[in-house]
Amino acid sequence: MNDIFEITEQFSGKRFQCQDGHSVLQAMERQGQRCLPVGCRNGGCGLCKVRVLQGEYRCGPMSSRHVPVAARAAGEVLACRVYPLSDLTIERLAPQGAAANQQQQ
Ligand code: FES
Repeated sequence: MNDIFEITEQFSGKRFQCQDGHSVLQAMERQGQRCLPVGCRNGGCGLCKVRVLQGEYRCGPMSSRHVPVAARAAGEVLACRVYPLSDLTIERLAPQGAAANQQQQ
């Protein structure tokens, strides 16, 4: 499959495309966008935490410390471990320190 999905980050209003099989964070970086904080890129640090507001997706392994089961059920995921299956609307849920760092950039 060569599907390409559109990702909209609600907080910044930024949009970027994500190829099937790529994570949301990977797609954002490939297109030079900076609307989400980037950390380990491996599902472990929690910096790239987002809430999916709309759309279908699948998840790879991610830290339950940063995304407990109940939060995951509410659409909270790590952007480096979420793979779109349709267009997605997301909002960033960066930890406070990361949000402050983003605003300084
Ligand atoms: S960048 Fe560290 S969990 Fe996504």
